[in-house]
Amino acid sequence: MVQVAILGFGTVGSGVAEVLTTNGGLIDQRVNDLVRLKYILDVRDFPDSPYKERFVKDFSVIENDPEVDIVVETIGGAKIALEFTTRALKAGKSVVTSNKELVATHGYELLQLAREHGCSYLFEASVGGGIPILRPLTSCLAANELEQITGILNGTTNYILTRMIRAGLTFEQALAEAQANGYAEKDPTADVDGHDACRKICILAALAFGRHVYPDQVATQGIRDVTLEDVAYADSVGYKIKLLGRAIRQPDGKVCAFVAPHLVPASNPLSGVEDVFNAISVTGNAIGDAMFYGRGAGKLPTASAVVADVIDIAKDLKRDRRNDWGPGSPDLVVSADCLTSPWYVRAKLSAVQARERCGDVQLLARNGAPAGECAFLTAPMTEPELLEKLSGVETDSILRVLA
Ligand code: NDP
Ligand code: HSE
Repeated sequence: MVQVAILGFGTVGSGVAEVLTTNGGLIDQRVNDLVRLKYILDVRDFPDSPYKERFVKDFSVIENDPEVDIVVETIGGAKIALEFTTRALKAGKSVVTSNKELVATHGYELLQLAREHGCSYLFEASVGGGIPILRPLTSCLAANELEQITGILNGTTNYILTRMIRAGLTFEQALAEAQANGYAEKDPTADVDGHDACRKICILAALAFGRHVYPDQVATQGIRDVTLEDVAYADSVGYKIKLLGRAIRQPDGKVCAFVAPHLVPASNPLSGVEDVFNAISVTGNAIGDAMFYGRGAGKLPTASAVVADVIDIAKDLKRDRRNDWGPGSPDLVVSADCLTSPWYVRAKLSAVQARERCGDVQLLARNGAPAGECAFLTAPMTEPELLEKLSGVETDSILRVLA
């Protein structure tokens, strides 16, 4: 028998218990053993839960029970989750998590610890919710030199943008819906300000390019400054505004990684990714482009990915899964300043001034635009080049266009 403990019985943790129970028969068949939920640890009490007998408050009960093989960490954050994960791995128990903050900040050391103690640290659910992406990246695409990854990596912000555009909701209303659906982080500024997408692109970059990329190395901009005016201008030429995480391998082995809202043309499949869905486009030197799509957040989709990791480990508790990467370094990540792309600009300029400064621009229109506002798309150039051309101009919005 393989025994499992869940730490944190919130949205994801309760989903894991539900999937282990509902699909228990087929999970046992696939593992060729019995997989059983022995403990649930949470700070809260759940007197009406069907699992009420399995709740504990003291992590050392789990840590010291030799029958527990796999610990599922779904508490979140990088404090108590780090302590419990470290203690579980040191006790020789494999750990499965959906906690991208912990993986992005401490993944390298935790993977080393798992290896030292002959167990596994798996985190498929930490990127893209229910989408199979990490295992395909390291297994199915293993024959490729991976060149770049571009993804809609945050369900909450994609949901907010979709609801604002499609249903005319305010930002606050759309965020409240995302929270009610269990998509948002405990502190939703992590979603809105791009930190969650940043953590996910760090994990993808580490797996794709083999070195730890830390969140504080990645320039990050969220959706807070995206306005309905920008959405309308983008829409007038068939573009959607999407928060993208990007990681691009440089010829010298360094990594250009950043998170920012982009205008995405209708010709790119990422433009059609709506609601809580995420999509990750991966480019490799043999496969060309491949795209992974599905629900990026939510109780059962995320639990699906967590339990898949549990099944993988339960099939062979001691297999060396070699899903680790090398250490990071301060000079590994380079800024996006070298990256050439077209730009969307909304500024206090006349059309003539826009052309004088930025050359042959494509002017955009929207209903109700005030006098003196000008929005346009530029030819491809780097950000420093654009900023020089716009020096001294009062700009309302500058967004990169995904070429
Ligand atoms: P929740 O806040 O819903 O669940 C976390 C649970 O852990 C809560 O019940 C919380 O209690 C409990 N908890 C807090 N501190 C402790 C502690 N010291 N010991 C035991 N239990 C504790 O979070 P989610 O389920 O949404 O997210 C969990 C992780 O999964 C996060 O890292 C998140 O980023 C990630 N994730 C979430 C997804 C989603 O769709 N929600 C999707 C993919 C990943 P209390 O509420 O009282 O603090
Ligand atoms: N808050 C995250 C999101 C959860 O909205 O994408 C999934 O990682």
